[in-house]
Amino acid sequence: MNADAAPLARRELGIAIVGCGRIGSLRAVMASRHPAVRFIALADRDPERARKLAEQVGAQVHSGDSLEVMSRPEVNAVVVSTIEVEHTTPVLQALDLGKPVLVEKPIALDLGAADRIIAAANQAGISLHVGFSRRFKKRYLLAKEQLVQGRLGKVVGAAARVYNSRSQGLQTLSRLPKESNSISGLTYYVDVINWFLAGNAPAEVYARAQGGVFKDQGFNTNDVTWAILTYADGAVVNLGVCYALPHQYPALGHAARVELLGSEGVMLLDDDHTDQIMYTEQGFPHVYIPEHVVNMVFLGSGTPGDWALGEFWGPVATETRAWLDHLSAGTQCLLATPRDARRTLEVGLAIGESLRTRAPVRLPLA
Ligand SMILES: NC(=O)c1ccc[n+]([C@@H]2O[C@H](COP(=O)([O-])OP(=O)(O)OC[C@H]3O[C@@H](n4cnc5c(N)ncnc54)[C@H](O)[C@@H]3O)[C@@H](O)[C@H]2O)c1
Repeated sequence: MNADAAPLARRELGIAIVGCGRIGSLRAVMASRHPAVRFIALADRDPERARKLAEQVGAQVHSGDSLEVMSRPEVNAVVVSTIEVEHTTPVLQALDLGKPVLVEKPIALDLGAADRIIAAANQAGISLHVGFSRRFKKRYLLAKEQLVQGRLGKVVGAAARVYNSRSQGLQTLSRLPKESNSISGLTYYVDVINWFLAGNAPAEVYARAQGGVFKDQGFNTNDVTWAILTYADGAVVNLGVCYALPHQYPALGHAARVELLGSEGVMLLDDDHTDQIMYTEQGFPHVYIPEHVVNMVFLGSGTPGDWALGEFWGPVATETRAWLDHLSAGTQCLLATPRDARRTLEVGLAIGESLRTRAPVRLPLA
């Protein structure tokens, strides 16, 4: 042992969680398990949700008033897990209070709001991170390590596509404005590819799409979207998303495949979860959609992760723990920065613009 080593420094944490829905509940569970967390305060615009979750995780405070909860003197960091259209206000309030923030993806729905958030964080000198939980799934983390080590040489091309059932697609769409053409699931893979190709900015987007299932239900969203991204150094990336697989499709979250083509190597990430299949006459509960039950299931396909033996395991668990470790012990933080999240948002908006104009769209957007 090195006698000169600095003593272990651990900062005690008081965490406020704003938004006690599906993901906020998982953040609260993970916070309640973390050794540095001494205080948890929960807020939801539906105070009954906050109360129930407080009972479940043993939180000291619960309320329908987010600002009151974030302002508590015991609170020194804030998680914003509200629905997508409700991120900006609580994020700006937390930054104004001088408290570090973890906000779920996307950082905002438009670049103006993203810029206001980035400016507020910079001005306050407060850390803000955005939850793109694929970064904390082991196979993506391992892929990033190989790229950091340079084992693929120069990456000249890549492909990333994600499929999901329409049951899940409808859940996501029901949180977004009716006119939104968001392809929310794809944003994780835009983030992953941008993270893999760090230092190489997306320069052009071209997209095509076809719809029916969601349009028939009144949403302005396509069933299948394919896009080609060209990066500044010429690397070409094919991105695809289809959230319209049949209701009972066995994946209970993202079914994905990512491929990286380099001058000295190639990497294939099979993330379809077809390696552990179960059929049960008793029905298997969906991790994200209450009351949705399937007979055939790809085990381990829950996007945030999965429950087993009373604990939650998977990307959102690891991501939450990593963020709390960062705040408490100063460990490296691999979560997306506000700039990363803005770039991902910009690609998503450019895909929408290319679909509207049927033309390639140059980045950065005007
Ligand atoms: N990382 C992942 O795996 C993952 C998966 C799904 C969703 N998400 C993201 O998590 C966020 C939340 O999604 P969800 O599935 O938990 O939604 P949800 O609908 O289950 O929960 C959202 C909660 O926020 C509350 N709320 C809404 N506006 C509020 C406000 N202004 N103040 C306080 N509370 C408010 C709602 O009452 C609800 O309880 C979204 O940004 C979504 O994109 C991440």
